[in-house]
Amino acid sequence: MHEAEGNLHGAELLQAQAHVWNHIFNFINSMSLKCAIQLGIPDAIHNHGKPMTLSELVAVLPIHPSKAPGVYRLMRILVHSGFFATQNDSGETEGEGYVLTNASQLLIKDNPLSVTPFLLAMLDPILTQPWHYVSAWFQNDVSSSFCTAHQRTFWEFAGNETKLNNFFNEAMASDARLVSSVLVNECKGVFEGLNSVVDVGGGTGTVAKAIAKEFQHLDCTVFDLPHVVAGLEGSENLKYLGGDMFEAIPQADAILLKVKCLFFN
Ligand SMILES: C[S@@+](CC[C@H](N)C(=O)[O-])C[C@H]1O[C@@H](n2cnc3c(N)ncnc32)[C@H](O)[C@@H]1O
Repeated sequence: MHEAEGNLHGAELLQAQAHVWNHIFNFINSMSLKCAIQLGIPDAIHNHGKPMTLSELVAVLPIHPSKAPGVYRLMRILVHSGFFATQNDSGETEGEGYVLTNASQLLIKDNPLSVTPFLLAMLDPILTQPWHYVSAWFQNDVSSSFCTAHQRTFWEFAGNETKLNNFFNEAMASDARLVSSVLVNECKGVFEGLNSVVDVGGGTGTVAKAIAKEFQHLDCTVFDLPHVVAGLEGSENLKYLGGDMFEAIPQADAILLKVKCLFFN
């Protein structure tokens, strides 16, 4: 051991321990957020229309009465992680109430840019389990940690389970709705001079639909695995094509490839 190593003491030692603990318990942030969404907390606060006190929140949540004290602890985590803030509703005697932040506004059901489906899919055990297999994946010759955990690729899994396929496609679409709203408003120049574009791995076509609607002179193709595009209807300047991008992709002036996940396949 290096001479400096192992010699931590006092504040330095505790700081190092806190750093390790922060990383050990990081998952509490994402799991608390998932819990809040499953209990409908962002919508409850949104529907309340003004800062919502803890007792008002507890009263509307679908929880067992014995678990009411836990709501305070859950909310403390979520305030700390920036999903809710506390505010004094002047005129009320009950004191502080919870309000949404910019981030939790993206989690309410009636926000067209809601990322809730994406969050629930990414934190589903099917997709979190492979993270427990990353070290095993480094030691084997299997293509991904997903495959190591589930003995098949994600795409094979989704291709055989309609519910998972729909759940995952809706998750991708929810993220794509947000990104395409920025893409067509802020990045118009990218599409100048093009006559055709193919979105490779374009899912159910959320991004391509937004592009086709905004740039009607463009011929857009959504290219994805056959089970993903099965039964989807195109429009005048949008068509769906099933296939395997590792074999061939349709010709176009530009290729769009929008992906977001590690350790898939
Ligand atoms: C992470 S998702 C991204 C979907 C979409 N581009 C988006 O950003 O919302 C990756 C997409 O690639 C598709 N895909 C995976 N393997 C493929 C392959 N071999 N050929 C064509 N598409 C594939 C999946 O079905 C899925 O829709």
